[in-house]
Amino acid sequence: MSWNGRAPAGRIAYVDGRYLPHGQASIHIEDRGLQLGDAVYEVCAISDGLLQDEEEHLDRLERSLGEIGMAMPMSRHVLALVMRELVRRNRTRTGLLYLQVTRGAARRDHPIPKDVIRPTLIMTVHELDAAALSRRREEGIKVITRPDERWARCDIKTTQLLANLLAKTAARQAGAYEAWLVDDEGFVTEGSSTNAWIVDGEGRLTTRQLSHDILPGVTRRVILAAAEEAQLRVFERKFTPEEASRAREAFISSAAGVIPVTAIDGHQIGEGRPGPLTKRVQQLYAHRSSAAAAKLSR
Ligand code: PDD
Repeated sequence: MSWNGRAPAGRIAYVDGRYLPHGQASIHIEDRGLQLGDAVYEVCAISDGLLQDEEEHLDRLERSLGEIGMAMPMSRHVLALVMRELVRRNRTRTGLLYLQVTRGAARRDHPIPKDVIRPTLIMTVHELDAAALSRRREEGIKVITRPDERWARCDIKTTQLLANLLAKTAARQAGAYEAWLVDDEGFVTEGSSTNAWIVDGEGRLTTRQLSHDILPGVTRRVILAAAEEAQLRVFERKFTPEEASRAREAFISSAAGVIPVTAIDGHQIGEGRPGPLTKRVQQLYAHRSSAAAAKLSR
């Protein structure tokens, strides 16, 4: 999408208590999020105009903030109201809501200020191309593998994403959609902005167990709950790129949905088409999330 260097017209952002057109929305030049990456964020899907997995995203936001010694910028209830109001004002049907909380503005200095400064809260939404989204979900995507060059607390959803961006860009340059990151011991951690899954030789849904090495994906969590309810066999464990390239099926999960993987580093997965278990997970996830969203909106 090209904005020709200008702010996109007709979109409303939320910045520190105000709903403003993007062109007028701004933050302080000494914001610690901007200067030091002292910030955490969330990305929440919008489907049929409703925020998906809202509770789980608020849970994770609270956790990320807690891990860096910050409190929620407002009560959960009010935060959820602001999120919904932003979706409403933008009339977004299919898209993503981005929410960032920074430590706030202060003279640039490495130590975290002792005095509590006012955190900065910003939110934006953008519409997604629904046709491209369903094409990816139906046809699948290719992934490549890259070394995981991130820091040691990938469980905190911070805005420090440079290593992720470099990996994603390498994937796109190689004609793939996502990069799966590989740790020093040769195991896949996760994708650059997604969790990684395979269906192993025993037919089990397999994804890496939670630790400091991966983001606790909301979509991952909802898939695991739905899979358990549907009595699918699940195994949370590490796997290598070699095992993945021999897997029956593979997919990625994130707020952008459950997307089948049809090739890893040029090796075709299964039949090179989305597999039956992946399709089942797509249905289970969509059903569980939209049912929860509909219930919350009542
Ligand atoms: N990314 N792993 C990483 C490193 C991520 O950045 C994300 C999400 C995920 C999946 O998490 P969830 O299911 O909660 O979206 C896993 C978001 C979408 C982003 O940065 O845009």
